[in-house]
Amino acid sequence: MPSAPAPSGSPRPDSGSPDSWWPRAWWARAWWARAWWERAAIYQLYVRSFADGDGDGIGDLAGVRAHLPYLAALGIDAIWFNPWYPSPMADAGYDIADYRSIDPVFGTLADADALIAEAHAHGIRIIIDVVPNHGSDRHPWFAAALAAGPGSAERSRFWFRPGRGADGSQPPNNWQSIFGGPAWTRVTEADGSPGEWYLHLFTPEQPDFNWGSPDVRHEFEDVLRFWFGRGVDGIRIDSAALLCKDAALPDVASTEPPGPAHPYSDRDEVHEVYQSWRAIADEYSTGKHGTGGLGDRMLIGEVWLPDAARLARYVGPGELHTVFNFPYLDCPWDAAGLRRVIDETLALNAPLGVPATWVLSNHDVDRVVSRYGRADTAFSLERRPYFHSLPVDLALGTRRARAAALLTMALPGSVYIYQGEELGLWEVQDIPDELRQDPIWTRTGGADPGRDGSRVPLPWSGTEPPFGFSPASASAEPWLPQPKDWRDLTVAAEAATPDSMLRLYREALRVRRAEPAFAGTPLTWCEAPEGVLAFDRLAEGGEGPGADGPEESGHDADGIDVNEAAATVRCVANLSAVSVPLPPHAGILLASGPLDDGLLPPDTTAWLYATR
Ligand code: NOJ
Repeated sequence: MPSAPAPSGSPRPDSGSPDSWWPRAWWARAWWARAWWERAAIYQLYVRSFADGDGDGIGDLAGVRAHLPYLAALGIDAIWFNPWYPSPMADAGYDIADYRSIDPVFGTLADADALIAEAHAHGIRIIIDVVPNHGSDRHPWFAAALAAGPGSAERSRFWFRPGRGADGSQPPNNWQSIFGGPAWTRVTEADGSPGEWYLHLFTPEQPDFNWGSPDVRHEFEDVLRFWFGRGVDGIRIDSAALLCKDAALPDVASTEPPGPAHPYSDRDEVHEVYQSWRAIADEYSTGKHGTGGLGDRMLIGEVWLPDAARLARYVGPGELHTVFNFPYLDCPWDAAGLRRVIDETLALNAPLGVPATWVLSNHDVDRVVSRYGRADTAFSLERRPYFHSLPVDLALGTRRARAAALLTMALPGSVYIYQGEELGLWEVQDIPDELRQDPIWTRTGGADPGRDGSRVPLPWSGTEPPFGFSPASASAEPWLPQPKDWRDLTVAAEAATPDSMLRLYREALRVRRAEPAFAGTPLTWCEAPEGVLAFDRLAEGGEGPGADGPEESGHDADGIDVNEAAATVRCVANLSAVSVPLPPHAGILLASGPLDDGLLPPDTTAWLYATR
């Protein structure tokens, strides 16, 4: 057993190269026997807000490239990039004008190629965002559709329809935009007359593609090949359940659940699309198109569906590799609720042979520190104004976010970390109205504050904004203002502070990768007091090193005892209001906060070596 517990946030080798610290013991081979995405730690990188290389106040690929060593040292396996394509930015890049290039504000295609190669050299995979439900009103196809007029082949790639009423002045149906207001906008025809309407489930600048059109299907298959061919390792599919529409475009009742009877959400036809995409991903995984990239390609769907059985239809051998786990993200900081979501997630995934994903935050939701610092710790997109009306206790939220990080990283499957989560950034709720940029804010007339508060540029160093986000020579301020109080949350400050969130994340990711238990079987729940979650993770093979007769002995490069390393790891998370005794254990690997003489304080998680 280890002679001393690894202190939370203990220093780790800062090398940019994972080779120097990857586990070399026998059990490392079990890790690599699986596809990389099955238990990867994936960093969600919101390019606009990560790091500004050229000083225009907006993050870019040069900024990312300069900070790849930071990401390598953090210990992640892959980066998911939010959209980086040419875009008028009506919805922060989710309105794409060209799916095969890079927006000039972010860089060039050559920069992307270099970034992919450099990330691969660090052992980091690249996942990009593809947005198939809608494009941009500046996409050449949309311009062509406007020019070609009603009934044209060009218009059939979108949803153009005459309006209702004698003069066609009413939208074709009652569908509402997810961002507020009607889902239809009327165009002016080439002759200046009021013309047809087109469908946009999001903003008017994001016209929906018609997935009944063969052109659309071929185009996106080609886009996938374009990026896989450049070495991209995975695709995150935006709004993945919305692509297919009932061509009759009937009115929808607000009570109609997503599913085959819904005119645009979770229709059965959508699965044909992903089956064809899976076949393409598999071609690249098996090297049919050469050896570009690091091997297996993966598809992850952004699928928000309330019905677990319907969600399950998206994943499996012939379809998507994984989907995001939004119920986990939405769940309050509550032991019974989280246990239910964890059980439901694992029950859903296990029969399909698909690994679970675990997500605490992303660019669409409030940051986790703020969520967990409120009296109501749940979250839902629809109720954001209510959540923003609640006071936030940042110290409490931070303590819980630390505990949640260790809980999440101990779960079997892959974990997504949204940039800034590793610094403990909070939701910036006091952005001046005139600086807000999210279309949700404008389209709801300010009723919904939108998502800008989770997208504020990262603080890297220094004691004043822009906190190293932009170079000293910058010509512009960061595109959203950073709170002055983030001076204690910069990367530089946290790297120098032993009990910082950053040091906790680095250490947790290192242990998660190094411990065979975390590469092993699904979890086993243990008895625990009310409000406490306790589960074991057991190394593959179950019996520890004796089963496979490892020749190695002593300690590996991480200082982890290779004989102990195959032991069961128990994760204990105390979500109750009182301290509880730690269960009997043979050692403490990591804790999210100080332990109290054998007690686990409230809102604290510990990783223990279980006693046998
Ligand atoms: C989901 C994305 O996560 C969100 O940011 C975007 O606004 C919508 N899809 C529309 O593309």
